[in-house]
Amino acid sequence: MPDNVGRGSCPRLPMTNVHTIGISTGGGDCPGLNAVIRAAVRCAIMKYGWRVIGIEDGFDGLIWPERSRELTLQDVSGILPRGGTILGTTNRGNPFKYKEVVNGQEVVRDRAGDVVENARKLGIDAVIVIGGDGTQNIGLQLFRKGLPVVGVPKTIDNDLSATEITFGFDTALHACTDAIDKLFSTAESHHRVMVLEVMGRDAGWIALESGIAGGAHVVLVPEIPFRIENICRVINQREKSGKRFTIVVVAEGCKNCADLQRFAELDKRTTPRAGVVGGLVGDAIGQCTKKEVRVTVLGHMQRGGSPSPFDRILGTRFGVAAVELIASGQFGKMVALRDAKIKAVDIAEACGAMKAVDSNGELVQMAKSIGVCFGDDAGVAQTLSASA
Ligand code: F6P
Repeated sequence: MPDNVGRGSCPRLPMTNVHTIGISTGGGDCPGLNAVIRAAVRCAIMKYGWRVIGIEDGFDGLIWPERSRELTLQDVSGILPRGGTILGTTNRGNPFKYKEVVNGQEVVRDRAGDVVENARKLGIDAVIVIGGDGTQNIGLQLFRKGLPVVGVPKTIDNDLSATEITFGFDTALHACTDAIDKLFSTAESHHRVMVLEVMGRDAGWIALESGIAGGAHVVLVPEIPFRIENICRVINQREKSGKRFTIVVVAEGCKNCADLQRFAELDKRTTPRAGVVGGLVGDAIGQCTKKEVRVTVLGHMQRGGSPSPFDRILGTRFGVAAVELIASGQFGKMVALRDAKIKAVDIAEACGAMKAVDSNGELVQMAKSIGVCFGDDAGVAQTLSASA
């Protein structure tokens, strides 16, 4: 049960009023979603005797109620090790700005009223909304329209400030660290620079933590402006000292970094965006060092596959905690991990507050102390002296 359940001042629904709950997953998928669904279904049925309705593809299953279905214990049996979400998801299903094709024309309509009404018709007393910032924001607006909602945070990027960690991140770190481990041996054999592009739309957590875990020599994150020249100085220094290979991890969110933009302008062929950021960094390093460079874009490999034990446990904790929030009538709240404990926070407070990598924080400073290069002017001297 969340630490602070029962202490909020939000409206309460007496426990006996809940007979049926809905569960929806919105936004990008990530490993651990099924652990949340399984835990919520099991707790709702086994502890409270409620009925559970699975809402398909974000809120689409409430715009089109025939796409919602009852979830039984049998339906969630065996789903714990499965990646993705058994409910399906979408990141184009905002019911407040719902895109539909009418008479061959795309129209945008507000279908939020239908969502609230159809939930009522299906007998749903409360909905567990599992999703990232965008999905939680929709959940909050639906709550304000009268739908009792509780939130479960989800983002593989781990950039929500309301919670210390989100499930999916740990599994992504395993995938990225495994990729770095594999790149090491081939980089060393061929004396190459290997660039690995990882996810992180706005924040560099995946790059930073997998870079540290994998022992990368260069880590590029959107929060720390870098210069290609600095990276090349480090690669050349390694070369001189007999280390003829280098591993560079770059977050896709680096697309907006000034030096990369400048390089892309010179290059004229591509614009920096996810999937090409790694290539731009690789080309720039190749031109500057004249070394052979190879680029790997890990992409959605980071989001698929079986969740790690950590993510399964966190997802299970979140799922049970969400049910407990409903049982105690605390709506408009989201579960979160704070000080390693499950807490309830206001969704309103949680929305829009991004957790960025702190360039002066312990992790970055620790990495710099052991010679990791972030490509920044201030850090490069430290890296060069550490590897001299
Ligand atoms: O925000 C999570 C995330 O995985 C980002 O790291 C990535 O940029 C984005 O989603 C990819 O989204 P999509 O699956 O729509 O391509």
